[in-house]
Amino acid sequence: MDVPGIALITGAASGIGRACAEGFAREGASGIALLDVNADALASVKAAIEQSHAASGRATCKIEIYPVDVSKEAQVDAAVDRIVATFGRLDYVVNAAGITIKHPGGAAFATTEDWNRVMEVNVNGTFFVLRAAARHMLKQEPILSSIHGRPLQRGSIVNFSSILGVIGITLSTAYTTAKHAIVGLTRTASEDYAKDGLRINAIGPGYTETPMVTQNPRVMEAMLERVETAVPMKRMGRPDEIADGVLYLAGGRSSFVTGSILMVDGGYTSR
Ligand SMILES: NC(=O)c1ccc[n+]([C@@H]2O[C@H](COP(=O)([O-])OP(=O)(O)OC[C@H]3O[C@@H](n4cnc5c(N)ncnc54)[C@H](O)[C@@H]3O)[C@@H](O)[C@H]2O)c1
Repeated sequence: MDVPGIALITGAASGIGRACAEGFAREGASGIALLDVNADALASVKAAIEQSHAASGRATCKIEIYPVDVSKEAQVDAAVDRIVATFGRLDYVVNAAGITIKHPGGAAFATTEDWNRVMEVNVNGTFFVLRAAARHMLKQEPILSSIHGRPLQRGSIVNFSSILGVIGITLSTAYTTAKHAIVGLTRTASEDYAKDGLRINAIGPGYTETPMVTQNPRVMEAMLERVETAVPMKRMGRPDEIADGVLYLAGGRSSFVTGSILMVDGGYTSR
């Protein structure tokens, strides 16, 4: 996927974020910075990637972990500064950290606390990381393609929307609103910097087998019903299938792509 250089991945301790971290290491990134609130799980992911990477005989990929709550502006700013100081530059951001909460009874009964938490992590968190990273990326020279040697972009940011960024489903007031907001953030920020060589895109995963889904019986139940009735491919996605879309958007294979929302959803939103 032509991803030389340094990647920052949030939500890297689990699910799709973890699959993205594995993908960047496998596809030739020279460094990856893994961010998550779950410090123990981050350490396990780092150890697992280092082990499989060493066994593969591929070129070194330096891995550092940063226990960070992306909804905390000061923590994000400090971590991004440290990452740039440690690695020397920052080429890719994957904004995968996210949470979901179902509201029994729908919008009329959604609590302010649940609404605020979903917005803080999914919208504010994405914005804080994008902003801190973009300020560094805009100052650096474009990275050169590992395939053609031609200059690619100064930086490439992939935000996480969802199928719920373009459609609505029941009992999902805050999450659906947040994922629609990510589409808006991606479009406006990509316009801001398209001419400056900073690309900003979003991925729209469909139902994907990760702990976000499998560890939440209410979400899992709703999802299985939807997979059977509304997903043309009649199955859930795997985290690495979503990561493939992220790697495409991040790297040199999408050098003329910005402001786009790539749906990776088994055909769900084509209906
Ligand atoms: N799984 C799906 O079906 C699906 C579908 C569409 C979109 N998504 C999106 O994909 C992204 C990844 O989700 P996943 O399914 O891998 O979920 P997951 O729960 O497996 O992983 C999410 C990770 O984010 C971390 N996180 C949560 N809050 C955080 C915070 N405040 N600061 C830093 N890290 C935090 C968690 O600790 C966890 O490691 C999310 O943005 C999610 O909304 C998932």
